[in-house]
Amino acid sequence: MQPQDFMLRIVYLNGEFLPLSEAKVSVLDRGFTFGDGVYEVIPVFAGNIFRLDEHMDRLANSLAGLNIHIGISRAQLKSILTELVRRNPATCDRQLYLQVTRGVTERDHLYDESVTPTFFAMCKAIKKKDFSAGVSAITHEDIRWKYCHIKSTALLASVLLKKLAKDTANCQEAILIRSGMVTEGASSNVFIVADDVIKTPKKDNNVLPGITRDLMVELLQLSGNVCQETDITEQELQQAGEIWISGSTIGVVPVVNLNGKKVGSGKPGRYWRQARELYEAYKINGPHTIQQQDCVV
Ligand code: PDD
Repeated sequence: MQPQDFMLRIVYLNGEFLPLSEAKVSVLDRGFTFGDGVYEVIPVFAGNIFRLDEHMDRLANSLAGLNIHIGISRAQLKSILTELVRRNPATCDRQLYLQVTRGVTERDHLYDESVTPTFFAMCKAIKKKDFSAGVSAITHEDIRWKYCHIKSTALLASVLLKKLAKDTANCQEAILIRSGMVTEGASSNVFIVADDVIKTPKKDNNVLPGITRDLMVELLQLSGNVCQETDITEQELQQAGEIWISGSTIGVVPVVNLNGKKVGSGKPGRYWRQARELYEAYKINGPHTIQQQDCVV
């Protein structure tokens, strides 16, 4: 795509569909001055918005967490997103990016509750990358705030962590450790496999409740695997036979190297291959896939 084509993409801003080149917000928007806002990244596979209700639930929780009132119904939101996908036709996998900021105010930490939020959304291609050989990661202290369950646009810590992982070790992800326990990746959730048990950190204020994470727990358990939502120590991570990261734009990706050392055999493991098959089948067949599995529970 030529740069100018990029700017012709149709986006949604505060009630209007318009070309990206014409979408402007005030420099006093609190998303710009304070990172005072929330966001969602929602995949669109084969033209279908994936797990939309789950993303809407999380968006509602994030908005409530910041006491921001978007002022439109869930039905209206769904119709805006559906129209945005329609106005940005493509054959590739896409992602909807939407963000709601608290709106435009004088620059002041304190704000008037009556301020009108800014609502922006766009639909763009998901950069196709083949992660099937696995990626590398580092571990790092979790330097983020304690409200990580809120999907805030204030992502400076994650931005710095991803840059550090890339610049110091050419790694895809930084897996974060808080008080000796694994929380999540800078922009992903984390799973490990040890002694045939799949584990992922339980959901609390230290992690984002990932939509992909929740789906994988559901699919893995319904397919007869032992998949636990539980504490994972840094040592368990380092000794794991398999490590995966998950997210809406990457699916489920094997981590084959951690801090310069092989994870297990140093190649994607059999549990990851099963997890990827479950995810890919669900992407194509949708919710009824779960009922079709021979559920050993
Ligand atoms: N990030 N944890 C963090 C901190 C994330 O930023 C993300 C996703 C996830 C995975 O959540 P989900 O499965 O709902 O995408 C976990 C998005 C993709 C982003 O910021 O681009």
